Amino acid sequence: MKIKATAPSNIALIKYMGKEAYNIPANASLSYSLPHLVTTVEIETHNEEQDQWEALPGEYGVQLSEAGQSRYLKFFEKLKNEFGMKGYFVVRSTNNFPSDCGLASSASSFAALTKACYEYSLANNLESLKDLGFAGVPEKDMSFLSSFSRQGSGSSCRSLFDSWAVWEQDHARAESFPYQNLLHLAVIAEEGKKEVSSSEAHQRVRSSLLMEGRTKRAEERLIKLSSALNEQNWEAAYEICWAEFWDMHALFETSNPSFGYMNPSSLEILEVVKGYWKSHNDGPLVTMDAGPNVHLLFRPDQREAFSNIKESLEAKFKVWGLS
Ligand code: DP6
Repeated sequence: MKIKATAPSNIALIKYMGKEAYNIPANASLSYSLPHLVTTVEIETHNEEQDQWEALPGEYGVQLSEAGQSRYLKFFEKLKNEFGMKGYFVVRSTNNFPSDCGLASSASSFAALTKACYEYSLANNLESLKDLGFAGVPEKDMSFLSSFSRQGSGSSCRSLFDSWAVWEQDHARAESFPYQNLLHLAVIAEEGKKEVSSSEAHQRVRSSLLMEGRTKRAEERLIKLSSALNEQNWEAAYEICWAEFWDMHALFETSNPSFGYMNPSSLEILEVVKGYWKSHNDGPLVTMDAGPNVHLLFRPDQREAFSNIKESLEAKFKVWGLS
C-alpha cells in the first residue's frame, strides 16, 4: 500500500529558539505557512527487513545525507511505533524547491512524514489512532498530530496548518488574522549548508546571558504582534518582526562560544528593505531564520512593492518566491 502526503514550509515571525527535552520550546512562536515551498512524502510497504529512504523523483528532488536519512528514518520508526504501523516501508521524499539554495526543508519534510503516517493509519489502523486520542477526522486532528511532528523537528509542528499557526508548549494550532495570501520572497545571501545547524543553535544559546528574559520578550512580542495583525497595523507588525529576528541573532552572537549567520550580503539586503520602508512609509515584513537569508512577506495589495524590491535585489542576489 502506498500513501502520499504533502506539507508546506513555514516562516516564523516570533521565533522558536531554546528548547527542553522532546522539543518543548522555551517560548511560544508564530508562523506563516509557505504554500509554494512544499515537501511530498510517499510511504510504501516493502518486503525488506528494514525501512529505507529514497529520493522521490520530482522537479528538484532532494538528496538526504547519511545523517539526514538516519534522523528521518529514526523518527519514522517512532511514528510507526506510536501509530501501531506494522512491517517495513520505503519512505520517498522530494521538495518542490532546490535543497541547496538555503531554504529550510526540515519543517516541511517532518510534517509531511507525520501526515503520511497519520493518513496510512487512517486507512489501515483507525482503531489505534482512536486509542491514541485522535478523532479520525483530519480537520479535527491536526493540532494533536502537531505534537507528534514536533518531536521530529520542532518547527515542523507549525507546518500542519495552511496559513498562520501558533505553537505553545507541546502542540501548535491554526490561528486566523485578517491577512491572508501573503506574497513571500526569500533573498538568498548564501547557499549551502550552515556550519551550525538550528538544532545545535538551540543548545548553544543556553550560554548567552541574553537568554535571561528571552521567554518573556518573545511572548510579549507574540501578544503585541497578534494585536497589530488583528488591528491591521502593518507597520507595527514590521517593527515587532524586525526586533524579534535581531533578538534571536543577538542570542547567537552572545553565546559562548559565539556563532552567527549574518553576513555582509544579509546586511545589504536588510538595508534595501529598510530604505524601501523609509521612502514609501510601507514595505514588507522582514525576518531571518537561523541562517543568512532574508525572508520578506508582502500583503496581496503590495504586488508593486513586491516586484520593485524583487527587481532591485535579483540584480545581485538569487531570490525565490511566490509572485
Ligand atoms: C530558527 O525546528 O530546525 O527556524 O527542533 O532542533 O529540529 P529542531 O529545530 P528547528 O528550529 C528552527 C528554529 C528557527 C525559528 C523557527 O522556525 O521558529
